[in-house]
Amino acid sequence: MTSSALQYLPARGSAPNQEILPLTARVNDQDSLEIGGCSIDSLVQKHGSPLYIVDEVTLRTAAQQYKQAWQKYYPGESLVIYASKAWNCLAICHIVTSEGLGIDVVSGGELLTALQAGAKPQQIYFHGNNKGVNELQLAIDKGCNIVVDNWWEIETLSTLATAQPVSIMLRLTPGIECHTHEYIRTGHLDSKFGFDPTRIDELFTYLSKQTQLRCIGLHAHIGSQIFEQQPHQDLAAVMVGWFTKAHTYGLPVSEINVGGGLGVKYTENDDPQSIDTWVQGVAAALEAACKEASLTPPRVISEPGRSLVANSCVTAYTIGSNKEVPGIRRYLAVDGGMSDNPRPITYQSVYRCVAATKMSAPCTEIVTVAGKHCESGDVLIHNASLPPTQPGDILVVPVTGAYNYSMASNYNRIPRPAAVLVKDGNSDVIIDRETYADLVKHDQLPERLR
Ligand SMILES: Cc1ncc(COP(=O)(O)O)c(C=O)c1O
Repeated sequence: MTSSALQYLPARGSAPNQEILPLTARVNDQDSLEIGGCSIDSLVQKHGSPLYIVDEVTLRTAAQQYKQAWQKYYPGESLVIYASKAWNCLAICHIVTSEGLGIDVVSGGELLTALQAGAKPQQIYFHGNNKGVNELQLAIDKGCNIVVDNWWEIETLSTLATAQPVSIMLRLTPGIECHTHEYIRTGHLDSKFGFDPTRIDELFTYLSKQTQLRCIGLHAHIGSQIFEQQPHQDLAAVMVGWFTKAHTYGLPVSEINVGGGLGVKYTENDDPQSIDTWVQGVAAALEAACKEASLTPPRVISEPGRSLVANSCVTAYTIGSNKEVPGIRRYLAVDGGMSDNPRPITYQSVYRCVAATKMSAPCTEIVTVAGKHCESGDVLIHNASLPPTQPGDILVVPVTGAYNYSMASNYNRIPRPAAVLVKDGNSDVIIDRETYADLVKHDQLPERLR
Protein backbone atom coordinates (compact mmCIF):
# COMPACT_ATOMS: atom_id res chain seq x y z
CA MET A 1 0.00 0.00 0.00
CA THR A 2 1.30 3.53 -0.77
CA SER A 3 1.80 5.45 2.44
CA SER A 4 0.98 9.08 3.17
CA ALA A 5 2.53 11.78 5.35
CA LEU A 6 0.21 10.72 8.16
CA GLN A 7 2.91 8.18 9.10
CA TYR A 8 4.99 11.05 10.51
CA LEU A 9 2.42 12.27 13.02
CA PRO A 10 3.80 11.90 16.54
CA ALA A 11 2.76 9.10 18.85
CA ARG A 12 1.26 10.08 22.18
CA GLY A 13 3.68 10.43 25.08
CA SER A 14 6.90 9.87 23.14
CA ALA A 15 10.15 11.81 23.44
CA PRO A 16 10.64 14.81 21.14
CA ASN A 17 13.93 13.46 19.77
CA GLN A 18 12.12 10.29 18.65
CA GLU A 19 9.54 12.08 16.51
CA ILE A 20 9.93 13.43 13.00
CA LEU A 21 7.20 16.05 13.38
CA PRO A 22 6.85 18.31 16.47
CA LEU A 23 4.67 17.01 19.29
CA THR A 24 1.73 19.32 18.53
CA ALA A 25 1.56 18.31 14.84
CA ARG A 26 -1.92 17.34 13.67
CA VAL A 27 -3.92 17.35 10.48
CA ASN A 28 -6.94 19.67 10.26
CA ASP A 29 -10.26 19.25 8.41
CA GLN A 30 -8.70 20.71 5.23
CA ASP A 31 -6.08 17.92 5.25
CA SER A 32 -3.43 20.51 6.15
CA LEU A 33 -0.62 20.18 8.63
CA GLU A 34 -0.97 22.24 11.80
CA ILE A 35 1.76 22.86 14.35
CA GLY A 36 1.17 24.69 17.62
CA GLY A 37 -2.44 25.18 16.55
CA CYS A 38 -1.41 27.10 13.39
CA SER A 39 -1.89 25.70 9.90
CA ILE A 40 1.30 25.79 7.88
CA ASP A 41 -0.41 27.37 4.87
CA SER A 42 -1.73 30.27 6.99
CA LEU A 43 1.73 30.76 8.49
CA VAL A 44 3.31 30.93 5.05
CA GLN A 45 0.62 33.35 3.88
CA LYS A 46 1.31 35.57 6.87
CA HIS A 47 5.10 35.32 7.18
CA GLY A 48 6.27 34.20 3.72
CA SER A 49 8.56 31.32 2.80
CA PRO A 50 10.97 29.75 3.41
CA LEU A 51 9.95 29.87 7.04
CA TYR A 52 11.37 28.17 10.11
CA ILE A 53 8.46 27.19 12.39
CA VAL A 54 9.38 26.40 16.01
CA ASP A 55 6.93 24.58 18.25
CA GLU A 56 7.29 25.93 21.78
CA VAL A 57 5.67 22.87 23.38
CA THR A 58 8.17 20.46 21.81
CA LEU A 59 11.15 22.57 22.84
CA ARG A 60 9.96 22.98 26.42
CA THR A 61 9.09 19.28 26.66
CA ALA A 62 12.59 18.26 25.62
CA ALA A 63 14.13 20.62 28.18
CA GLN A 64 11.85 19.30 30.92
CA GLN A 65 12.52 15.67 30.00
CA TYR A 66 16.28 16.20 30.34
CA LYS A 67 15.96 17.99 33.66
CA GLN A 68 13.50 15.53 35.15
CA ALA A 69 15.47 12.49 34.01
CA TRP A 70 18.64 13.67 35.77
CA GLN A 71 16.66 14.39 38.92
CA LYS A 72 15.09 10.92 38.70
CA TYR A 73 18.18 8.83 37.95
CA TYR A 74 21.20 10.60 39.37
CA PRO A 75 21.82 10.73 43.10
CA GLY A 76 23.93 13.92 42.96
CA GLU A 77 23.22 17.46 41.80
CA SER A 78 22.74 18.05 38.07
CA LEU A 79 22.57 20.86 35.55
CA VAL A 80 21.52 20.62 31.92
CA ILE A 81 23.04 23.25 29.67
CA TYR A 82 21.82 23.90 26.14
CA ALA A 83 24.58 23.65 23.52
CA SER A 84 23.40 26.80 21.82
CA LYS A 85 25.53 26.32 18.70
CA ALA A 86 22.56 24.19 17.59
CA TRP A 87 20.51 27.42 17.37
CA ASN A 88 21.57 30.48 19.27
CA CYS A 89 19.01 33.27 19.21
CA LEU A 90 17.26 35.33 21.88
CA ALA A 91 13.95 33.44 21.94
CA ILE A 92 15.40 29.93 22.06
CA CYS A 93 18.00 30.85 24.68
CA HIS A 94 15.24 32.54 26.69
CA ILE A 95 12.93 29.52 26.55
CA VAL A 96 15.57 27.03 27.68
CA THR A 97 16.78 29.41 30.37
CA SER A 98 13.21 29.82 31.64
CA GLU A 99 13.08 26.00 31.96
CA GLY A 100 16.06 26.20 34.33
CA LEU A 101 18.77 25.16 31.86
CA GLY A 102 22.19 26.76 31.56
CA ILE A 103 23.81 27.58 28.22
CA ASP A 104 26.95 26.42 26.43
CA VAL A 105 28.38 29.09 24.13
CA VAL A 106 31.35 29.03 21.76
CA SER A 107 31.90 32.67 20.83
CA GLY A 108 31.54 36.19 22.14
CA GLY A 109 28.42 36.54 19.99
CA GLU A 110 26.75 33.46 21.46
CA LEU A 111 27.77 34.55 24.95
CA LEU A 112 26.26 38.03 24.62
CA THR A 113 23.07 36.61 23.08
CA ALA A 114 22.69 34.17 25.99
CA LEU A 115 23.16 36.97 28.52
CA GLN A 116 20.70 39.20 26.69
CA ALA A 117 18.20 36.33 26.67
CA GLY A 118 18.36 36.18 30.46
CA ALA A 119 20.89 33.41 31.18
CA LYS A 120 22.77 33.80 34.46
CA PRO A 121 26.55 34.17 33.92
CA GLN A 122 27.29 31.36 36.43
CA GLN A 123 25.18 29.05 34.24
CA ILE A 124 27.01 29.95 31.02
CA TYR A 125 29.93 27.74 29.95
CA PHE A 126 32.24 29.13 27.30
CA HIS A 127 33.72 26.50 24.95
CA GLY A 128 35.90 26.73 21.86
CA ASN A 129 39.29 25.59 20.59
CA ASN A 130 40.51 29.08 19.70
CA LYS A 131 38.83 31.69 21.83
CA GLY A 132 40.25 35.15 21.20
CA VAL A 133 41.89 37.11 23.99
CA ASN A 134 39.00 39.57 23.75
CA GLU A 135 36.51 36.71 24.11
CA LEU A 136 38.33 35.31 27.14
CA GLN A 137 38.36 38.78 28.71
CA LEU A 138 34.63 39.14 27.99
CA ALA A 139 33.88 35.84 29.72
CA ILE A 140 36.01 36.88 32.72
CA ASP A 141 34.33 40.30 32.93
CA LYS A 142 30.85 38.78 32.75
CA GLY A 143 31.65 36.06 35.31
CA CYS A 144 30.99 33.07 33.02
CA ASN A 145 32.67 29.67 33.34
CA ILE A 146 35.41 28.99 30.81
CA VAL A 147 35.94 25.51 29.44
CA VAL A 148 39.65 25.60 28.67
CA ASP A 149 40.62 23.68 25.58
CA ASN A 150 44.41 23.83 25.18
CA TRP A 151 47.79 24.92 26.55
CA TRP A 152 47.83 28.27 24.79
CA GLU A 153 44.49 29.14 26.33
CA ILE A 154 45.45 28.10 29.83
CA GLU A 155 48.63 30.15 29.67
CA THR A 156 46.77 33.16 28.25
CA LEU A 157 44.13 32.89 30.95
CA SER A 158 46.70 32.82 33.72
CA THR A 159 47.98 36.19 32.48
CA LEU A 160 44.44 37.64 32.18
CA ALA A 161 43.11 36.42 35.52
CA THR A 162 44.81 39.03 37.68
CA ALA A 163 41.94 40.71 39.56
CA GLN A 164 40.36 37.57 40.99
CA PRO A 165 40.48 33.81 40.41
CA VAL A 166 38.69 32.58 37.28
CA SER A 167 36.55 29.42 37.32
CA ILE A 168 37.58 27.02 34.62
CA MET A 169 36.80 23.52 33.46
CA LEU A 170 39.22 21.45 31.41
CA ARG A 171 38.17 19.85 28.16
CA LEU A 172 39.93 16.55 27.62
CA THR A 173 39.83 14.28 24.57
CA PRO A 174 38.76 10.88 25.86
CA GLY A 175 39.88 8.74 22.92
CA ILE A 176 36.43 7.22 22.57
CA GLU A 177 35.26 6.36 19.07
CA CYS A 178 31.61 6.58 18.10
CA HIS A 179 29.74 5.95 14.88
CA THR A 180 28.75 9.25 13.38
CA HIS A 181 29.89 11.49 10.53
CA GLU A 182 33.64 12.23 10.81
CA TYR A 183 32.97 16.01 10.83
CA ILE A 184 30.90 15.73 14.02
CA ARG A 185 33.11 13.24 15.85
CA THR A 186 35.12 14.93 18.57
CA GLY A 187 36.13 12.37 21.18
CA HIS A 188 38.79 10.49 19.21
CA LEU A 189 42.40 11.36 20.01
CA ASP A 190 43.06 12.98 16.62
CA SER A 191 40.59 15.79 17.28
CA LYS A 192 41.23 19.53 17.20
CA PHE A 193 39.36 19.86 20.51
CA GLY A 194 40.60 19.40 24.04
CA PHE A 195 43.71 18.44 25.97
CA ASP A 196 45.51 15.21 25.19
CA PRO A 197 44.85 12.96 28.22
CA THR A 198 48.30 11.40 27.93
CA ARG A 199 49.58 14.73 29.35
CA ILE A 200 47.05 14.83 32.17
CA ASP A 201 49.66 14.67 34.96
CA GLU A 202 51.57 17.58 33.44
CA LEU A 203 48.32 19.52 33.10
CA PHE A 204 47.18 18.90 36.65
CA THR A 205 50.65 19.73 38.01
CA TYR A 206 50.66 23.02 36.10
CA LEU A 207 47.18 23.91 37.34
CA SER A 208 47.92 23.04 40.93
CA LYS A 209 50.45 25.91 40.88
CA GLN A 210 48.13 28.47 39.28
CA THR A 211 46.36 30.18 42.16
CA GLN A 212 44.45 32.53 39.87
CA LEU A 213 42.79 29.65 37.95
CA ARG A 214 40.22 27.64 39.89
CA CYS A 215 39.64 24.32 38.16
CA ILE A 216 36.05 23.46 39.10
CA GLY A 217 35.55 20.52 36.78
CA LEU A 218 36.31 18.36 33.79
CA HIS A 219 34.59 18.20 30.43
CA ALA A 220 34.46 15.86 27.45
CA HIS A 221 32.22 15.58 24.41
CA ILE A 222 32.48 12.62 22.06
CA GLY A 223 30.44 13.77 19.07
CA SER A 224 26.99 14.41 17.75
CA GLN A 225 24.02 12.43 16.38
CA ILE A 226 25.06 9.31 18.32
CA PHE A 227 22.61 6.43 18.68
CA GLU A 228 24.74 4.02 20.70
CA GLN A 229 24.61 3.85 24.52
CA GLN A 230 28.04 2.40 25.10
CA PRO A 231 30.36 5.30 24.15
CA HIS A 232 28.56 7.67 26.52
CA GLN A 233 28.70 5.12 29.32
CA ASP A 234 32.39 4.43 28.66
CA LEU A 235 32.98 8.18 28.79
CA ALA A 236 31.34 8.43 32.21
CA ALA A 237 33.77 5.86 33.62
CA VAL A 238 36.81 7.53 32.01
CA MET A 239 35.78 10.89 33.44
CA VAL A 240 35.39 9.60 36.97
CA GLY A 241 38.97 8.28 36.68
CA TRP A 242 40.25 11.75 35.66
CA PHE A 243 38.17 13.39 38.37
CA THR A 244 39.68 11.20 41.09
CA LYS A 245 43.15 11.93 39.77
CA ALA A 246 42.47 15.70 39.82
CA HIS A 247 41.74 15.44 43.56
CA THR A 248 45.12 13.82 44.16
CA TYR A 249 46.69 17.01 42.74
CA GLY A 250 44.62 19.12 45.13
CA LEU A 251 42.47 20.62 42.37
CA PRO A 252 39.06 21.82 43.64
CA VAL A 253 37.07 19.91 41.01
CA SER A 254 33.40 19.45 41.87
CA GLU A 255 31.68 18.85 38.52
CA ILE A 256 31.84 16.50 35.57
CA ASN A 257 30.47 17.61 32.20
CA VAL A 258 29.65 14.63 29.99
CA GLY A 259 28.90 16.72 26.87
CA GLY A 260 25.98 16.25 24.51
CA GLY A 261 25.57 14.08 21.45
CA LEU A 262 22.29 12.18 21.79
CA GLY A 263 20.90 11.58 18.31
CA VAL A 264 17.50 12.47 16.90
CA LYS A 265 15.12 10.92 14.42
CA TYR A 266 15.36 12.52 10.97
CA THR A 267 13.79 9.60 9.12
CA GLU A 268 11.86 6.46 10.02
CA ASN A 269 15.17 4.56 9.77
CA ASP A 270 16.67 6.42 12.74
CA ASP A 271 16.11 4.93 16.15
CA PRO A 272 17.67 7.14 18.82
CA GLN A 273 17.32 6.41 22.50
CA SER A 274 14.80 8.58 24.27
CA ILE A 275 16.10 11.43 26.41
CA ASP A 276 15.00 9.50 29.49
CA THR A 277 16.84 6.32 28.46
CA TRP A 278 20.00 8.22 27.57
CA VAL A 279 20.12 10.01 30.91
CA GLN A 280 19.32 6.80 32.77
CA GLY A 281 22.24 4.99 31.12
CA VAL A 282 24.76 7.78 31.66
CA ALA A 283 23.61 8.36 35.24
CA ALA A 284 23.94 4.66 36.05
CA ALA A 285 27.44 4.50 34.53
CA LEU A 286 28.54 7.57 36.49
CA GLU A 287 27.09 6.25 39.71
CA ALA A 288 28.73 2.84 39.26
CA ALA A 289 32.13 4.42 38.50
CA CYS A 290 31.82 6.71 41.54
CA LYS A 291 30.96 3.76 43.74
CA GLU A 292 33.99 1.87 42.53
CA ALA A 293 36.19 4.89 43.24
CA SER A 294 34.52 5.48 46.65
CA LEU A 295 33.52 8.93 45.45
CA THR A 296 30.37 10.84 46.34
CA PRO A 297 28.64 11.46 42.98
CA PRO A 298 29.75 14.95 41.96
CA ARG A 299 27.58 17.54 40.26
CA VAL A 300 26.99 16.41 36.69
CA ILE A 301 26.46 18.66 33.69
CA SER A 302 25.14 17.47 30.35
CA GLU A 303 25.04 19.73 27.31
CA PRO A 304 22.63 18.56 24.63
CA GLY A 305 22.06 20.69 21.56
CA ARG A 306 20.48 18.74 18.72
CA SER A 307 18.21 16.54 20.87
CA LEU A 308 16.80 19.63 22.60
CA VAL A 309 15.90 21.71 19.60
CA ALA A 310 16.04 19.73 16.33
CA ASN A 311 12.60 18.14 16.34
CA SER A 312 10.80 21.27 17.54
CA CYS A 313 11.24 22.96 14.17
CA VAL A 314 10.16 22.44 10.57
CA THR A 315 11.01 24.51 7.51
CA ALA A 316 8.21 25.41 5.11
CA TYR A 317 9.13 26.05 1.48
CA THR A 318 7.10 26.96 -1.58
CA ILE A 319 7.44 24.60 -4.53
CA GLY A 320 8.43 26.31 -7.79
CA SER A 321 9.83 24.84 -10.98
CA ASN A 322 10.28 21.19 -11.80
CA LYS A 323 12.29 19.28 -14.36
CA GLU A 324 11.85 15.76 -15.67
CA VAL A 325 15.02 13.96 -16.76
CA PRO A 326 13.40 11.12 -18.74
CA GLY A 327 14.10 7.71 -17.28
CA ILE A 328 16.27 9.18 -14.55
CA ARG A 329 14.53 11.52 -12.11
CA ARG A 330 12.21 14.45 -11.58
CA TYR A 331 13.55 17.53 -9.83
CA LEU A 332 11.18 19.62 -7.76
CA ALA A 333 12.70 22.97 -6.81
CA VAL A 334 11.90 24.96 -3.68
CA ASP A 335 12.53 28.59 -2.75
CA GLY A 336 15.38 27.82 -0.32
CA GLY A 337 18.03 25.12 0.01
CA MET A 338 21.63 24.95 1.11
CA SER A 339 21.66 28.51 2.47
CA ASP A 340 18.93 27.76 5.04
CA ASN A 341 19.82 24.07 5.51
CA PRO A 342 23.48 23.34 4.80
CA ARG A 343 23.38 19.90 6.42
CA PRO A 344 22.62 17.79 3.32
CA ILE A 345 25.48 19.30 1.31
CA THR A 346 27.88 19.30 4.28
CA TYR A 347 27.15 15.97 5.94
CA GLN A 348 25.01 14.18 3.33
CA SER A 349 22.21 14.37 5.92
CA VAL A 350 18.95 12.70 5.00
CA TYR A 351 15.59 14.37 5.49
CA ARG A 352 11.96 13.59 4.77
CA CYS A 353 9.33 16.03 3.56
CA VAL A 354 5.55 16.35 3.42
CA ALA A 355 3.16 18.30 1.21
CA ALA A 356 1.59 20.47 3.90
CA THR A 357 -1.90 20.70 2.39
CA LYS A 358 -2.18 17.09 1.19
CA MET A 359 -1.32 15.21 4.32
CA SER A 360 -3.43 12.12 3.73
CA ALA A 361 -2.88 11.92 -0.03
CA PRO A 362 -1.04 8.76 -1.10
CA CYS A 363 2.64 9.36 -1.87
CA THR A 364 2.74 8.15 -5.46
CA GLU A 365 5.77 10.09 -6.72
CA ILE A 366 9.47 9.85 -6.05
CA VAL A 367 11.20 13.20 -6.64
CA THR A 368 14.48 14.96 -5.94
CA VAL A 369 13.88 18.10 -3.89
CA ALA A 370 16.38 20.67 -5.14
CA GLY A 371 17.28 24.03 -3.70
CA LYS A 372 17.52 27.23 -5.71
CA HIS A 373 21.27 27.84 -5.37
CA CYS A 374 23.83 27.75 -8.17
CA GLU A 375 25.36 24.50 -7.01
CA SER A 376 24.48 21.09 -8.42
CA GLY A 377 24.94 19.63 -4.95
CA ASP A 378 22.20 21.86 -3.60
CA VAL A 379 19.74 19.02 -3.16
CA LEU A 380 17.74 18.89 0.06
CA ILE A 381 16.25 15.42 -0.38
CA HIS A 382 17.01 12.56 -2.73
CA ASN A 383 14.16 10.15 -3.52
CA ALA A 384 11.47 12.01 -1.59
CA SER A 385 8.04 10.33 -1.55
CA LEU A 386 5.29 12.83 -2.20
CA PRO A 387 1.79 13.02 -3.59
CA PRO A 388 1.46 14.89 -6.89
CA THR A 389 2.20 18.58 -6.27
CA GLN A 390 1.81 21.88 -8.13
CA PRO A 391 3.98 24.99 -8.21
CA GLY A 392 2.82 27.08 -5.25
CA ASP A 393 2.22 24.10 -2.97
CA ILE A 394 3.94 24.14 0.39
CA LEU A 395 6.58 21.58 1.20
CA VAL A 396 7.54 21.01 4.82
CA VAL A 397 10.90 19.57 5.84
CA PRO A 398 10.84 18.42 9.48
CA VAL A 399 13.64 18.28 12.06
CA THR A 400 15.35 21.51 11.06
CA GLY A 401 15.80 23.08 14.50
CA ALA A 402 19.45 22.13 14.98
CA TYR A 403 22.41 23.33 12.92
CA ASN A 404 20.16 24.86 10.26
CA TYR A 405 19.57 28.54 11.07
CA SER A 406 22.80 28.58 13.07
CA MET A 407 24.74 27.41 9.99
CA ALA A 408 22.69 29.36 7.46
CA SER A 409 24.43 31.64 4.99
CA ASN A 410 23.67 34.25 2.36
CA TYR A 411 25.14 32.17 -0.45
CA ASN A 412 23.95 33.62 -3.77
CA ARG A 413 22.86 36.69 -1.79
CA ILE A 414 19.73 34.98 -0.64
CA PRO A 415 18.26 36.61 2.47
CA ARG A 416 18.01 34.31 5.49
CA PRO A 417 14.42 33.24 6.23
CA ALA A 418 12.27 34.38 9.13
CA ALA A 419 11.57 32.13 12.13
CA VAL A 420 8.30 32.04 14.04
CA LEU A 421 7.43 30.51 17.39
CA VAL A 422 4.03 28.82 17.48
CA LYS A 423 1.85 27.97 20.43
CA ASP A 424 -1.91 27.63 20.99
CA GLY A 425 -2.81 29.06 17.59
CA ASN A 426 -0.46 32.09 17.88
CA SER A 427 2.65 32.73 15.85
CA ASP A 428 5.30 35.22 16.95
CA VAL A 429 8.24 36.22 14.82
CA ILE A 430 11.46 35.36 16.68
CA ILE A 431 13.81 36.21 13.82
CA ASP A 432 12.95 38.69 11.09
CA ARG A 433 13.34 37.73 7.47
CA GLU A 434 16.41 39.42 6.03
CA THR A 435 15.85 42.00 3.34
CA TYR A 436 17.85 42.84 0.24
CA ALA A 437 18.88 46.02 2.07
CA ASP A 438 20.34 43.84 4.86
CA LEU A 439 22.47 42.05 2.30
CA VAL A 440 24.38 45.18 1.29
CA LYS A 441 24.36 46.76 4.76
CA HIS A 442 28.05 46.02 5.36
CA ASP A 443 29.25 46.49 1.77
CA GLN A 444 31.35 49.52 0.96
CA LEU A 445 31.98 51.06 -2.44
CA PRO A 446 35.23 53.04 -2.10
CA GLU A 447 35.01 56.61 -3.38
CA ARG A 448 37.64 56.04 -6.11
CA LEU A 449 35.52 53.31 -7.72
CA ARG A 450 32.44 55.44 -8.10
C1 LIG B 1 31.44 20.74 23.27
C2 LIG B 1 30.11 20.40 22.74
N1 LIG B 1 29.11 20.19 23.60
C3 LIG B 1 27.87 19.89 23.16
C4 LIG B 1 27.60 19.77 21.82
C5 LIG B 1 26.20 19.44 21.41
O1 LIG B 1 26.12 18.25 20.73
P1 LIG B 1 24.70 17.74 20.25
O2 LIG B 1 24.07 18.83 19.47
O3 LIG B 1 24.98 16.57 19.45
O4 LIG B 1 23.91 17.40 21.49
C6 LIG B 1 28.61 19.96 20.88
C7 LIG B 1 28.35 19.83 19.44
O5 LIG B 1 29.00 19.17 18.72
C8 LIG B 1 29.91 20.29 21.37
O6 LIG B 1 30.92 20.50 20.53
